[in-house]
Amino acid sequence: MRIDIITVLPELLKSPFEASILKRAIEAELVEVHFHNLRDFTTDNYKTIDDYQFGGGAGMVMMVEPIDKCITKLKSERDYDEVIYMTPDGETLNQGIANQLSLKENIIILCGHYKGVDQRVRDHFITREISIGDYVLSGGELGAAVLCDAVIRLIPGVLGNETSALTDSFQDNLLAPPIYTRPRDYKGWQVPEVLFSGNFPEIEKWREEKAYEHTKKRRPDLLNE
Ligand code: ADE
Repeated sequence: MRIDIITVLPELLKSPFEASILKRAIEAELVEVHFHNLRDFTTDNYKTIDDYQFGGGAGMVMMVEPIDKCITKLKSERDYDEVIYMTPDGETLNQGIANQLSLKENIIILCGHYKGVDQRVRDHFITREISIGDYVLSGGELGAAVLCDAVIRLIPGVLGNETSALTDSFQDNLLAPPIYTRPRDYKGWQVPEVLFSGNFPEIEKWREEKAYEHTKKRRPDLLNE
């Protein structure tokens, strides 16, 4: 998979890709991530990427031309499955969307800033608009990093143990059950007996019950009841 991220702040975006699972995924060549500084696609001396809103109103708008130049250049080099715009009014990111995107070959992610982009960018280039939650960030970069993390860890081979992504919260519309490790007894706080039974169907049943209880209590909206 190849991800091209268009941003005015590449330095804000780079560090999440330089550690842990994302770093290993890149080193193992399971994913390529490229950063494109929008200012490199400007034509004036000031490298202007934003301007005042037509019709008046507070806040600057990202101009169509540098974005057009950047996306058109990328598209001339390869085909893209999706051109995603990070914006608080997009569809809210969830595990289903991450699963879908993890199957794509090439995607572009455009990070918004200020009030957002000129509507013509959305009308003519963007195939999908994604929000990471109902709050407003200063820009799309942190959202793009969250999206990339959620997607990249699902690419086959990225996680050491293939089953571990399958047992994450949300994969079956259920939150994950409780988990424990050593010591078995810590200050009298005991690990549930069933986990030592060696009876794997019984352990699986316990996990399913706990996952259901936890989901019912915390996220009943996930259960189709
Ligand atoms: N840009 C600003 N706020 C955002 C959000 N909540 N999700 C994605 N991109 C954003």
